[in-house]
Amino acid sequence: MNKIGIIGAMELEIEQLKKDMTLENTTRKAGMDFYEGTLNACPVVVVRCGIGKVNAAICTQILADVFQVSCVINTGVAGSLNAALDIGDILISEDALEHDMDVSPLGYEPGVIPQLDCSIFRSDERLKTLALACCQKVNPDIQVLSGRVVSGDQFIAAKDVKERLISLFHGDCAEMEGASIAHTAYLNGLPFVIIRAISDKADDSAQMDYPTFETAAAKHCAALVEEMLMQH
Ligand code: ADE
Repeated sequence: MNKIGIIGAMELEIEQLKKDMTLENTTRKAGMDFYEGTLNACPVVVVRCGIGKVNAAICTQILADVFQVSCVINTGVAGSLNAALDIGDILISEDALEHDMDVSPLGYEPGVIPQLDCSIFRSDERLKTLALACCQKVNPDIQVLSGRVVSGDQFIAAKDVKERLISLFHGDCAEMEGASIAHTAYLNGLPFVIIRAISDKADDSAQMDYPTFETAAAKHCAALVEEMLMQH
């Protein structure tokens, strides 16, 4: 069976997966530990990429080149940009873009990557549908929506910055890795999906809410990923 790459930015986001998998091999590369084994009878490589777009891109490229994964799942937490998405809810990516890509002084729309045929990276339809169905099964009391992930090397914790991400990019949640994983997956022809539990509202309350809710949010994502592997 084909291997699935599973990326979390922080230890908290992969902790449960590491506990539940049967570990066969650990490889250290670019300062990241790649845990190879099986989880729910599915071959997987689980890795903590670290925070931000550069770490996430490097990690995804290693999953493609060294581990030859057949697809990538990114799991973690995010700040909500959509009033319908409350803390604890889960967002499954429809697509993802890099909100801090800005070549507007040269006439490009904000978010557009010059000289690339794509700046909004679409999730794999099958992975997205599977994630939505599995979420409803394992987290029946949690609202799950599909939508747009906007990523940048910034923790969003101010109303005006949040409003900009909504008006310019129509983002549903903000985080710091997803679109970079999506971008790298796209360049390598790999299907991907991003699964994010909402830990805060990406506004003036984010600094307080984030540490309170991140643990539960990350746990719900892990349960969902494990169910996806069962049905894969
Ligand atoms: N991850 C979780 N909450 C976030 C926020 N408000 N901004 C960026 N990344 C996040």
